[in-house]
Amino acid sequence: MTSVQHCRKPVLLLALLSCTLFLVGGVNGLYPGFYSSSCPNAESIVQETLKTFLASDPTLNGPLTRVTYHDCFVRGCDASILLNSVDGNTAEKDAVGPNKNSLRGYEVYDGIKAALEDACPGVVSCADIIQLVARDIIVQDGGPYWDVPTGRRDGRVSIASEALANLVGPNSDYDTQKNSFADHGLGEKDLVVLTGAHTIGRARCVTIQNRLYNFSGSGQTDPSLDPTYAEQLKSQCPVGSSNSVPLDGTQFNFDSQYYQNVMVNKGLFHSDAAFLTQPYPKQIVEAESDQYNFFVDFPGAMVRMSSIGVLLGDNGEIRKNCAFVN
Ligand code: HEM
Ligand SMILES: *[C@@H]1O[C@H](CO)[C@@H](O)[C@H](O)[C@H]1NC(C)=O
Repeated sequence: MTSVQHCRKPVLLLALLSCTLFLVGGVNGLYPGFYSSSCPNAESIVQETLKTFLASDPTLNGPLTRVTYHDCFVRGCDASILLNSVDGNTAEKDAVGPNKNSLRGYEVYDGIKAALEDACPGVVSCADIIQLVARDIIVQDGGPYWDVPTGRRDGRVSIASEALANLVGPNSDYDTQKNSFADHGLGEKDLVVLTGAHTIGRARCVTIQNRLYNFSGSGQTDPSLDPTYAEQLKSQCPVGSSNSVPLDGTQFNFDSQYYQNVMVNKGLFHSDAAFLTQPYPKQIVEAESDQYNFFVDFPGAMVRMSSIGVLLGDNGEIRKNCAFVN
């Protein structure tokens, strides 16, 4: 938006030059509408195909949003999360802990990719599909709209151990999360704002079992969890349960409920509760609990995360099938 306005009245040669650079290269080389001439219907094909998948399984909203984080933090936003394991290499999607048995919905990318290959073979990257899908879900769930900068290319490497090394777990304290985001070029506000995506989706009971029954090996419930909420979660998640629970009370509404929950010690994960352990993140939680602020801040944070380590120009490739390198 701001860049487009800035391009409207280029009074100085310098402004003209920087405008041209923006239009050609964009921020980090990505820009909204990258496919407007090479595949004009790309974004509507993504949106329409996605809708049919969500109609048959609405709970795909969570995993398909979470994929952005798990893709971008591991080798950049290059769709490495979508590659299958092959003989001799376990891929990111099979990393036990963050991904295997937890992330799902890969068939959606395959379906969208097939529709795009029909319309414009070899043009639209899987890495861009991941970002467009998340934006469309968030809008469909009542969240803010933003133009997604596109032009990413797909990577050819996916290694499970890199997912384990780059994604922090749900029992992490604040500094662990802060340092991980800093390692990926993101700040504390980005951390707290992006984690607002925990306003949609579900978690498996196994993910919170230790928090409920044996926090840090103590044999006790995490003391940072509201006791009434803890009892409710225990009844939904008995020891060894294969159930799942919503991350906040409104798993299909992209709203600021997540922050309101965190403020009263009802964040589902220890990592969510950890935002209250230091003044700065606590202040951000309070600010984002006002939905107006959250909706202003979230798109910018997504655009920053979605720019991490992108492959551009002649780097990488445009996969024919999101699960396989060409
Ligand atoms: C340090 C930061 C983060 C931690 C520790 C974390 C951790 C987790 C965990 C443990 C789950 C539950 C997985 C399961 O039980 O199978 C989850 C779910 C989820 N996360 Fe995060 N997350 C973080 C950041 C993010 C970010 C940046 C996003 C997206 C922008 C995100 C979006 C989601 C969504 C939408 C779900 C629901 C998934 C579903 O419905 O299956 N998370 N997260
Ligand atoms: C709780 O965790 C500790 C440390 O990991 C472990 O030694 C103990 O067996 C666990 N207790 C239960 C009941 O699982």
